[in-house]
Amino acid sequence: MNNIIAKEEAAPASDENVWNGSLRKMTLDDYDAVFELWDKTEYVSLNECDTRDGMAFYLKHNPDSCFVAEADGRIVGTVLCGHDGRRGFLRHLVIAKAYRNKGIGTQLVAQCLAVLSSKGVGKCNIFVNSENVRGLEFWKQAGWYMVDEEFVTMQSPTAPLTMPKAVASS
Ligand SMILES: CC(C)(COP(=O)(O)OP(=O)(O)OC[C@H]1O[C@@H](n2cnc3c(N)ncnc32)[C@H](O)[C@@H]1OP(=O)(O)O)[C@@H](O)C(=O)NCCC(=O)NCCS
Repeated sequence: MNNIIAKEEAAPASDENVWNGSLRKMTLDDYDAVFELWDKTEYVSLNECDTRDGMAFYLKHNPDSCFVAEADGRIVGTVLCGHDGRRGFLRHLVIAKAYRNKGIGTQLVAQCLAVLSSKGVGKCNIFVNSENVRGLEFWKQAGWYMVDEEFVTMQSPTAPLTMPKAVASS
């Protein structure tokens, strides 16, 4: 878990909060800037999939559905999107604090949903840390709903686990 809270203050929502940046597809060339943004943002869990190799693999499989937002000459927002043929999955929707409440997150999500829809994927899922109150509020305001509060996410490595020697011999 990487719950380091960035020191910048979030911009308050207001009608004057106009964003003059642009969105484009993410490429591996964006990796360093994207990782730096993720690393300093609250509620972003980083793991082996977020290494440069992991991102090369992800972007190769999802070349049309991962986006960055740019403003003032830098990357200020990201979203990763992929699908398994049934459901889409969004990850790492992150907006730099100084650029929040300008509609960037909403636009990034809309881009992803448009790509998924064009591919015939009818629904999209997002995993939200249950302590991420602002994140949950964002998704609910946007019309997303909890599928079933009784489901939990479980996970397994795809290859057998290697037991550490001390444990294996005991
Ligand atoms: C959650 C997060 C992605 C939202 O991004 P964002 O760019 O601030 O989202 P938006 O600006 O599109 O929407 C935020 C609010 O601003 C409002 N807004 C959008 N454009 C606006 C504008 N031009 N002027 C005023 N308000 C605006 C939206 O209606 C929305 O209102 P709400 O608070 O009632 O939902 C961002 O807070 C973030 O990066 N959080 C940390 C990481 C995180 O939690 N990610 C989600 C993980 S599941």
